[in-house]
Amino acid sequence: MVQSAAAYNNDMGITSPLFPVEADYLQTNGSPVIEEEPDITQEILEQVVFYCRTLAVPAARNLDDPQIIKGASLFNEAKCHSCHTPRHITGSFDGIPEISNQTIYPYTDLLLHDMGPELADGRPEFLADGNEWQTRPLWGIGLTQIVNGHTNFLHDGRARNIEEAVLWHGGEAAASKNAYLQFSKEDREALLAFLNAI
Ligand code: HEC
Repeated sequence: MVQSAAAYNNDMGITSPLFPVEADYLQTNGSPVIEEEPDITQEILEQVVFYCRTLAVPAARNLDDPQIIKGASLFNEAKCHSCHTPRHITGSFDGIPEISNQTIYPYTDLLLHDMGPELADGRPEFLADGNEWQTRPLWGIGLTQIVNGHTNFLHDGRARNIEEAVLWHGGEAAASKNAYLQFSKEDREALLAFLNAI
């Protein structure tokens, strides 16, 4: 709820009962900072939060294909799974059994990692220092082109495809990238096929 209300406020300039003060960054352009009524009601905010929570992810595809099975074991061999943790079990959400106690496969530990100087932006944000990024979930990544019409990855979209995203990994993830570089061409293709399937 706070995440959505903060995004409304900071990213879109829309106030709600949780964040009733305009995020004007001292540039009010003559507008009053405190509005009489929040732009959206608590009810709308709750509906948006419900929608985000219950949005489904695309199902994985062709997981019994031999090349993809091989890619899955290479994913573990390169220790990608140490940060892109495949499996989690959700907690309990009052009144929403569809998302309560479910086994999900997001491929993230949801944690911050130092990804080395080449990915650093030198810009701390909340608990993350300028070298740290949160592990991106990898589920659905193979459908990015179809859904978004591009395959740009990483926090600033600098990678033009999945392979370039892997090659930008440094810092704590350097050993995984080097393992990937040591793989044969066939093995690299199998790992990419696996990523495109999940
Ligand atoms: C030390 C933790 C760590 C390890 C190990 C790791 N990653 Fe990552 N990965 C990250 C983080 C953090 C990001 C987000 C970086 C950013 O936003 O710039 C990321 C991003 C990615 C992305 C881009 C996703 C997107 O939506 O932008 C891909 C693809 C990826 N990793 C694949 C892999 C593969 C394959 C391996 C193994 C060869 C691997 N990662 C190993 C932490 C890790």
